[in-house]
Amino acid sequence: MNKTNQLPLSGQTSIVTGASSGLGQAIAISLGKAGSNVCVNFHGNEDGAKETQARIEEIGAKCIIVKGDVGKPKDVAKIFEKTTGAFGDIHILVNNAGIQEDKPLVDMSYEEWDKVIQTNLYGSFLSAQTAAKTFLSQNTEKSPDKCIGKIIFISSVHDIIPWGGRVNYSASKGGIKNLMKSMAQELAPQKIRVNSISPGAIKTPINEDQWKDEANLKVLLKKIPYARIGEPEDIGKVAAWLASEEADYITGTTIYVDGGMTLYPSFAED
Ligand code: NAI
Ligand code: BGC
Repeated sequence: MNKTNQLPLSGQTSIVTGASSGLGQAIAISLGKAGSNVCVNFHGNEDGAKETQARIEEIGAKCIIVKGDVGKPKDVAKIFEKTTGAFGDIHILVNNAGIQEDKPLVDMSYEEWDKVIQTNLYGSFLSAQTAAKTFLSQNTEKSPDKCIGKIIFISSVHDIIPWGGRVNYSASKGGIKNLMKSMAQELAPQKIRVNSISPGAIKTPINEDQWKDEANLKVLLKKIPYARIGEPEDIGKVAAWLASEEADYITGTTIYVDGGMTLYPSFAED
């Protein structure tokens, strides 16, 4: 292939957790479009993972699917081992898997708290730690000028916007914010970039209750100055760019992709 035709992530391999639907699916497809080999991790929805795989292969990129619960150390190890087995060195991890289990604080059971923290925070930690160990152990050329791996957390606007009725979820995302920054600080000298993308309201299964019903969508749109709900591709495109060399000087940063949700829109009415 002529060098000018090379895609931004040609020759690289990515893992996307929870890539059988929503944002994970769009991110995996965007990384494939950018030329990367992709490992699509899924937990329950194998049909969704197969759909992601088919769409990536249609583009001409290589893809495997691997079942695994990101909250379980053994499963995370398996996801990385299978990816290395299929493609060799790994260059990009997108920590996307996440769940909500909403309940008023006083009604929330320990199990409802634990399940969300386990998947969103422990799952992100386990995958990110395994990615860092993997990047450092690979034979990738090491030099003061060359990035050896990229980790992207899919956090949320709720890593800074408090969210009553969902303390488990917003605590998990707030935790991710400082996990990301501390990891970025620790790993920058070893040429590993660590960042977050924090989406606002994006049309996926996780928030169907907020956009399927027209009255609820109207309420939601009041919180979005840019006056539209986000599409999964809005996040996919940013993830592919953030993983590319174009973003080489970015580490320890959160990119809010939220149509202005974090701008305190109700203040515009005063
Ligand atoms: P989704 O429900 O379509 O996707 C969540 C994915 O995570 C699913 O594919 C699910 O199977 C997977 N998953 C759940 N538990 C898992 C586990 N233990 N191990 C592996 N995979 C697991 O919803 P969406 O919106 O695509 O969510 C993706 C991420 O984006 C989540 O971390 C969510 O918190 C975050 N997010 C979503 C926003 C939105 O408005 N849709 C806004 C901000 C953040
Ligand atoms: C939540 C969605 C919500 C969005 C904006 C996300 O973190 O998962 O349910 O629509 O934040 O509030």
